[in-house]
Amino acid sequence: MDYDETLVDCGAGPHWPLASTVRDRGRGPLPAGLPAEVLRRTTEMLGEARVPSTGVGESAALDLIAGLLDNHGIDLSHPHAAAHLQPPVLQVAVDADALASASNASMDTYDSGPATLAIEQWVVRALARLAGFGPEADGVLTPGGSISNLLAVLIARDSAAAKVGIDVRRHGIDGLDRPMVFCSELAHFSVQRACAALGLGEDAAVTIASDSDFRMRLDVLEAELARPGRTPIAVVATAGTTDYGSIDPIAGIASLAHQHGAWLHVDAAYGFGALFSDRLAPLLAELPVADSVTLDLHKIGWQPAATSMLLVADRNRFASFGRSVDYLNPADDIDSGLDGLLGRSLQTTRRPDAVKVATTLTAYGRTGLGAMLDTCHELAHAAAARVVADSNLELLAPVTLTTVLFRVAGEELAAAELDAVQGEVRRRLLTSGRVLIGRTKVPARNGRPAAVALKLTLLNPNATATDVEELLDQVVATGHDVLAGRAA
Ligand SMILES: Cc1ncc(COP(=O)(O)O)c(C=O)c1O
Repeated sequence: MDYDETLVDCGAGPHWPLASTVRDRGRGPLPAGLPAEVLRRTTEMLGEARVPSTGVGESAALDLIAGLLDNHGIDLSHPHAAAHLQPPVLQVAVDADALASASNASMDTYDSGPATLAIEQWVVRALARLAGFGPEADGVLTPGGSISNLLAVLIARDSAAAKVGIDVRRHGIDGLDRPMVFCSELAHFSVQRACAALGLGEDAAVTIASDSDFRMRLDVLEAELARPGRTPIAVVATAGTTDYGSIDPIAGIASLAHQHGAWLHVDAAYGFGALFSDRLAPLLAELPVADSVTLDLHKIGWQPAATSMLLVADRNRFASFGRSVDYLNPADDIDSGLDGLLGRSLQTTRRPDAVKVATTLTAYGRTGLGAMLDTCHELAHAAAARVVADSNLELLAPVTLTTVLFRVAGEELAAAELDAVQGEVRRRLLTSGRVLIGRTKVPARNGRPAAVALKLTLLNPNATATDVEELLDQVVATGHDVLAGRAA
């Protein structure tokens, strides 16, 4: 494929070369039908679930699987796909990912793949610099934002333990006095999971109320940190909450966290990509005060999953993962420069996911990725404006990045019934196959009780304002049908 030819100005702006496994451009983002039917049809095409004694050959096998993805899979490049933080992906990243797979290099030692080690370190340095971190910073690619958050809480736990002379790696956390992690009520649930996985228990995650702009409240954090009888090991700020894209007051949180000797982790899984855009980068101006940062380029970054990274301001904090293993990196081999990145991760074999990132950053630069984000941000504002102008719809939160929270209006309905309408509208749209949108629950705010919301996560830079209008037209029409069905 000639990438430069596809990146042409079509009058409405550049058309980005995105990959898709769906050839039928007439179909919607999902296959039509009820989930059980679609899954049954797919399984039937695969045949009986057993390893065949004789294979059908490579072409036939690839044709079969490609056909399944084409007919029954998702098309994230469709302009009406707007459900999750799951973007369409750049074709060049897919091609580079095939190179990474073909190399089958691993990141643990020099002799598992030299070039890819250098590539990951290049990508880490480039993104650490973009974050505003100094030369002491380091990072590692991980299989997702949830795992990056887990590694961050692990490092914070070990740092807190080391301060009171406990070697967690050998003795566990028993000597720590009620270790706690503080995060906003809108933080990603992976923070709770990290606490559970690390032996702290989910209850160790103290959730802090958020304000009318969906940002962590500093006064509540301050009061919680000051409560006696607990060891605050980390505060997790979110830069780009999953639903609202809201950005916690990072500098204020950092100062409170550090006053109490706690680690400041910023979960920027969604928001980090704002740094690609001149317009949105000021939202993350306070990021350099963090001790660690999660960023996901399989969200804003248009990379195939998994492409997450944990950045740490001080590379010495990776000591939690340090290990010398006889068959991989014995001391004399390390001294001879044969070490790899085993000591940055809980994984041993680790994919060279940095290959696609290095290729994408080189191909498009900050400006290219920033332009893609700006387009999605403008689409979100256009969608919000349409919602506000339409009496059939109600906007439930302001736009920060690329999400829009709204609902089908129904003043005359009781709250529970109106909530049920939203769920039904979304399910009807999904099973029609024509429109893929998300849902969530917006907490009680400014006198309005908690409400089920419909959600657009706009990450397709090839979608237009007209596409978004058409998508919302379908929501309104389906809303009418559902409301009429309930009235009857
Ligand atoms: C703010 C935030 N953090 C972490 C995650 C988890 O990322 P992943 O799905 O890559 O594990 C998400 C996922 O949406 C997220 O929105």
